[in-house]
Amino acid sequence: TFVVGENCIKCKHTDCVEVCPVDCFYEGPNFLVIHPDECIDCALCEPECPVNAIFSEDELPEDQQDFLEINAELAEKWPNITEMKDSPEDAEEWDGVPNKRDKLIR
Ligand code: SF4
Ligand code: F3S
Repeated sequence: TFVVGENCIKCKHTDCVEVCPVDCFYEGPNFLVIHPDECIDCALCEPECPVNAIFSEDELPEDQQDFLEINAELAEKWPNITEMKDSPEDAEEWDGVPNKRDKLIR
């Protein structure tokens, strides 16, 4: 499966949702997740993210392993998203900011 990692938090550009052939992205207030049981590993979304927040499970950095569970959990809870929308106005300022986990709104 593919996994949305920490750098999506407060960036949420949503380019990723447009290319997913199985529409398996789910949207929270300031983050998106991929449903691990629905993702078909096509890899189309990974290069679409302007802040490189998407990883294949095999390449998910060691310090973001908890995002496997975060994606699985929140994909069950949040609504589906299939169309791109405007990013937050301050999205660029949050690109690469460390420890954004604390800012994740569930
Ligand atoms: Fe969708 Fe493909 Fe990305 Fe999985 S890898 S979330 S199927 S675009
Ligand atoms: Fe997040 Fe990147 Fe998609 S910032 S919403 S994973 S395009």
